[in-house]
Amino acid sequence: MYRIEEMTPADLPQVLAIEELSFTNPWTRGMFMVEMTLPQSRTIVIKTGDSGKKDRDDGDVAGYACWWNVSGEVHILDIAVHPTLRRRGLAGRLMEAILRDARESGSERAFLEVRASNLPAREFYRKLGFTETATRKKYYDKPSEDAICMTLEITTKMISSVDCPSFLTPLHNSTRWDTRPKSACFLECSCANLPS
Ligand SMILES: CC(C)(COP(=O)(O)OP(=O)(O)OC[C@H]1O[C@@H](n2cnc3c(N)ncnc32)[C@H](O)[C@@H]1OP(=O)(O)O)[C@@H](O)C(=O)NCCC(=O)NCCS
Repeated sequence: MYRIEEMTPADLPQVLAIEELSFTNPWTRGMFMVEMTLPQSRTIVIKTGDSGKKDRDDGDVAGYACWWNVSGEVHILDIAVHPTLRRRGLAGRLMEAILRDARESGSERAFLEVRASNLPAREFYRKLGFTETATRKKYYDKPSEDAICMTLEITTKMISSVDCPSFLTPLHNSTRWDTRPKSACFLECSCANLPS
């Protein structure tokens, strides 16, 4: 069992550890802290629960995502899963939460940039239905690299299979993401292909 929660400052040590393992130019604690306060920003973590694995404690952060939902569009800024937990559908779960948030707020399009060399991520997005729409020359540094821009037109069909209850909608009635009681944004996801 894995669960998705709103990211809090207490999650940041584990989030930053995954970020360091995942990116050559990782986000800093300060960057995550800013995102947790911006009204248009969403930050979530997916955590282990009842995993039964000895090498990970229940409640450990397995992955996370950050996106902006503004002006009818979702811009995915950061998404990563711990290297030892990849290819188990966790990023897919995070993406479902993003698409649900988009649909429930009336946003119909998602976009993102990805390093040209990041073939696993490009394949992950392509499988979800994203199409590559443009290249931004030397968009990244450390190392310098082009960005591939990817876009997804979000349809209801894409989230109709989500078996999780909505948890993001109440956020849109709040001016700040972090003013809500934590329990209100908690959900449980049972992933059939996750380790028992
Ligand atoms: C990209 C990333 C988030 C995917 O996370 P994940 O939890 O492993 O993804 P999922 O298990 O949900 O994968 C869903 C599908 O995406 C595709 N995919 C994911 N990783 C892949 C890989 N390494 N190679 C090829 N396809 C891949 C597959 O089609 C996969 O389905 P399958 O496992 O049934 O074949 C993860 O590899 C990661 O954290 N990478 C480092 C950070 C990063 O690059 N983030 C994106 C920045 S733009």
